Amino acid sequence: MSKPLVIAMPKGRIYEEAAGLMKQAGYHLSADAEESRKLILDFPEQNIQVMMAKPMDVVTYVEYGAADIGIAGKDVLLEQDRDVYEVLDLKISPCYVAVAGLPNQPLSRIAPKIATKYPKIASDYFRQQGEQIEIIPLNGSIELAPIIGLTDRIVDIVSTGRTLKENGLVEYEKITDITSRLIVNPVSYRLKGEEIDEMVNGLSKAVEVEQA
Ligand code: PRP
Repeated sequence: MSKPLVIAMPKGRIYEEAAGLMKQAGYHLSADAEESRKLILDFPEQNIQVMMAKPMDVVTYVEYGAADIGIAGKDVLLEQDRDVYEVLDLKISPCYVAVAGLPNQPLSRIAPKIATKYPKIASDYFRQQGEQIEIIPLNGSIELAPIIGLTDRIVDIVSTGRTLKENGLVEYEKITDITSRLIVNPVSYRLKGEEIDEMVNGLSKAVEVEQA
């Protein structure tokens, strides 16, 4: 039998939706993969191996060929600009990137500070707006920054809007819509094109069914 197709799946909140779509496409990954502490799961009957990765790291595994295929958020793809093929919009985990801050606070004129875990997306956006800003990179709980007066604004993901609301913050501008994408390593695509196309087609049909 040929080598298994290695898929880097995002651990955490995207996993369930991603695994559900895979199941519809005929790939049965175990539903409890998230509960197990195992990071590599084998499905020999489907000739698949699954790597459980942090969402931000899926692109790295795929770029270096450690995984043939991966599921990654468009936010990560925009931020990291890696050498992978983005082959399909899975239309799951919809959210968007927005600029937010305390209400009724005009942006200060001189180098406003922006807290974010997306320095590139934030810099590109404010450059387009002609604003000179200072990025304060953070790894999470970004909403803290304006509350404690560390920054004027944040650039972060908004999904339900609850985190902003419960922390007394408001949205100022929407930057871009985000969904999860199927990504492929370019060399794997050359070597395992047939299997990969089969998976892409299956997933593409599953997405259509979901959207209908
Ligand atoms: C994300 C994001 C927001 C929150 C938005 O954080 O950074 O904080 O979710 O979701 P909501 O609009 O539904 O409230 P995540 O939970 O991934 O954790 P983090 O703060 O550690 O980044």
